[in-house]
Amino acid sequence: MAINPLSCSLLVAAASFCFAGVEGALKSPERSLKPRFTYDELWNLEKGFWDSFLYPANLKQTQGNESTVFASDVQGRVDITRTFDGDELNREYIFGLFADPTHISLVGVPVNYSITQFAANDRIASATTIVTFNATTFDVLVPVTIDTWIEFNEDGKIAQYDATFRWFEYLLDTLIEATAIKIKATSTDKAVAYVADVLAKTICNTHEQYCTGSNKQYADTGTCYDHLTQSIRFGKSYELGRNTLLCREVHEHMVQYRPDVHCPHIGPSGGGYCVDDMNYTQTVLQRYFSDSWIPFGYGQSQDIWLQG
Ligand SMILES: *[C@@H]1O[C@H](CO)[C@@H](O)[C@H](O)[C@H]1NC(C)=O
Ligand SMILES: *[C@@H]1O[C@H](CO)[C@@H](O)[C@H](O)[C@H]1NC(C)=O
Ligand SMILES: *[C@@H]1O[C@H](CO)[C@@H](O)[C@H](O)[C@H]1NC(C)=O
Ligand SMILES: *[C@@H]1O[C@H](CO)[C@@H](O)[C@H](O)[C@H]1NC(C)=O
Repeated sequence: MAINPLSCSLLVAAASFCFAGVEGALKSPERSLKPRFTYDELWNLEKGFWDSFLYPANLKQTQGNESTVFASDVQGRVDITRTFDGDELNREYIFGLFADPTHISLVGVPVNYSITQFAANDRIASATTIVTFNATTFDVLVPVTIDTWIEFNEDGKIAQYDATFRWFEYLLDTLIEATAIKIKATSTDKAVAYVADVLAKTICNTHEQYCTGSNKQYADTGTCYDHLTQSIRFGKSYELGRNTLLCREVHEHMVQYRPDVHCPHIGPSGGGYCVDDMNYTQTVLQRYFSDSWIPFGYGQSQDIWLQG
């Protein structure tokens, strides 16, 4: 419906009619605007997630059969890794990965956070969160910027999430630089080789401890070490879900929870998770999500991330 501002300003008594006119002019005809959660509820759900992400609260999330955070059929994607389906896998991944300050790891454990951007509508929240990690392996406290989109189901559990590690390449370079200084390395390559050595030894120890019997991936520790340091790439900042050492370092943390599931991920095959199965274009165009990330169901017909 077209509106006439002049008639609106004259028809003060009929203000409600003018509002109806404005709405009619701007509103897409397709959807209902009734939100499932208020802004306040979405803010509290968002805070609840990050509170449970911090160490040691995250330890609790790695235990038990049913998640208080994730829907059983949760779908998640992280730009530097890949997609992860289901509650059990996501709890191992999102919480279990950052739960042991004494274990060798890239970023260590999350100790506090600050939400710096937040917008939310319907059942979808978009946020930027700066999480400070205690990177115990590198002896530094490091702020990590995580951009997230989270969709909550009717129980307030996470139905979908999509996370982006902003400035991750910069972060990785910074950790390598910190290592170079610590070990007085004369070049970046030497610092990378040092980190590769430490990570490979850690992964091979885990393999030896947990990947036994039919879960065994490497004939012995020497074969494991050689494969991880020579046969595969160290990995670029976007390759934590590809056929790299960095990908196996991510999955190494999860082996303890379910060796039968996770041993192949640190093995030569990569078990479907540390594999070069998609190129850049396929990654960017992947039709993965069940629900649209646009509140109130807008724009679904043009959304190429939705499953067909
Ligand atoms: C989890 O489920 C298994 C079987 O699926 C059951 O044996 C176990 O007792 C359950 N544990 C908890 C904490 O509910
Ligand atoms: C976390 O705590 C550290 C040390 O107390 C502080 O310097 C930092 O600003 C905090 N970071 C966030 C994201 O709140
Ligand atoms: C970081 O970890 C070290 C080693 O566990 C610990 O001594 C230190 O207190 C931790 N720092 C913070 C801010 O959690
Ligand atoms: C990525 O793979 C697809 C499917 O094999 C292929 O059609 C496309 O050309 C590839 N794109 C690039 C950039 O290599």
